[in-house]
Amino acid sequence: MVAGNAQEAVVRRDSPEPFTLVIFGASGDLAARKLLPAVYRLFRQGLLPEQFAVVGFARTAMTDDAFREEVRQALDRFTPGKAAAADWPQFASRLFYHRGDYSDAAGFAALRARLEALAASRHAPCNTLFYLATPPTVFAPIAEQIRACGLSAPGERCDGWARLVIEKPFGRDLASARALNAHIRNAFAEDRIFRIDHYLGKETVQNILVLRFANALFEPLWNHKYVDHVQITVAETVGVEQRGPYYDQAGALRDMVQNHLMHLLSLVGMEAPNSVDSDTVRSEKVKVLKALRPMPRACVASNLVRAQYGAGEVAGQPVPGYRAEPGVAPDSITETYVAFKTFIENWRWAGVPFYLRTGKRLAARVTEIGIHFKPVPQVLFNAAPFGPMAPNVLALRIQPNEGISLQFQVKRPGAGVRIEPFRMDFGYAAAFGGEPPEAYERLLLDAALGDSTLFTRSDEVEAAWAFLTPILYTCAEDQFAALPTYRAGSWGPKEADAMIEADGRQWTVFKRPAARKGREG
Ligand code: BG6
Repeated sequence: MVAGNAQEAVVRRDSPEPFTLVIFGASGDLAARKLLPAVYRLFRQGLLPEQFAVVGFARTAMTDDAFREEVRQALDRFTPGKAAAADWPQFASRLFYHRGDYSDAAGFAALRARLEALAASRHAPCNTLFYLATPPTVFAPIAEQIRACGLSAPGERCDGWARLVIEKPFGRDLASARALNAHIRNAFAEDRIFRIDHYLGKETVQNILVLRFANALFEPLWNHKYVDHVQITVAETVGVEQRGPYYDQAGALRDMVQNHLMHLLSLVGMEAPNSVDSDTVRSEKVKVLKALRPMPRACVASNLVRAQYGAGEVAGQPVPGYRAEPGVAPDSITETYVAFKTFIENWRWAGVPFYLRTGKRLAARVTEIGIHFKPVPQVLFNAAPFGPMAPNVLALRIQPNEGISLQFQVKRPGAGVRIEPFRMDFGYAAAFGGEPPEAYERLLLDAALGDSTLFTRSDEVEAAWAFLTPILYTCAEDQFAALPTYRAGSWGPKEADAMIEADGRQWTVFKRPAARKGREG
């Protein structure tokens, strides 16, 4: 398949104004794995302004030079191609470290003096992007310290803006999310708060809206009249790795469904926005979340399956069961898998089931959205006595082997009429070459530009919690009911198959073999 010619609809992007990125939790895993490599790649691509700087803030005592050395080691480990010798000194000269305690006002006053001195030495405004890459327990205290020392309103003392980027998890339920929103909005206005969900930074997730609204082909069919049901699968092969203590308190519903799966669902289900500005797009997404049919206690048992992985094999290697993972309670009843059925109660989707599932230690790593169209009437080619033909399916492969497949029926050449489903396939790597950019690069750049389209707004986060919180309470009350287990390396518990099969449907993924690299001719 050949990528189109130059008739691209280009949305022009300016480069950010000079700014300083302050990373709280700078010595942590997220900073090393994701944030610093993303900043470095943006720098190498010339997408950052000349006068940008990074200030790492954490409790560990460290000099600027020691921090630079830590960053260099992180880049060596987590940046493909490593830190290039040629541009490392320029990058390193923009890295600084500030030791402080998250609840110590004096440390924040010193941070303020340092940021002002840095800005003055670069003849730049005091623009600051504060990034909370810390455990969630300190989100609110840090925001409060930033406010108390005057850093959330730099315009009052020197020209400039201040923005806050917050990692997930954003609360544990509706009440805690509301409380956290109230705390941070005490320090920053809503349009200065960037709640990050790295799924929104993925190219293929952004392409959902382009596919739906930049093509005449799909939108007329995208409704209850033609769509039988929708499946969203987010399957991982990894277990909880080193995050046992966090994960055991969270589980799949909080860790994956409340954020990543809800975003995928709302992008698939939303109405066309009349503009691509951040508030218009996000308002349409919120409407979907608010239209989700509530799942009362009585429905949870038939519409939702939670399960936990037992020991098994992944990629030919034996792996332990969840309860034997480090940091996990040996009698834990936290779910590592969840599958459920929901409905969007509006005119477009009335009666169309949306089946969602996610789990760790499954048979393959695949994130995919399947739009399953209605079967054709049982006449003509579909009148065969040996069963109905496979329906049309549009599969959006979010990762890996990013792309789109469309399944339709064709006549196999030869005498007689033999009809078979065929898949037409579009692959990003084959069409455009290379790997898609890291989600964090796009999101960091957007936050520096002040574009919040790909970040979660407060009402969005609360609408997702409003749907999930009663489910979580029901699950918590049922905690002594047996939690099914599934073998690590399988496709999940048989109860999840039974749930969808009761409706006469099956879980399907259209995962494709790895695509050939490079552009096709
Ligand atoms: C994170 C979850 O938000 O997303 C992890 O906390 C999960 O548990 C990860 O593994 C999945 O992200 P990706 O980009 O690998 O699909």
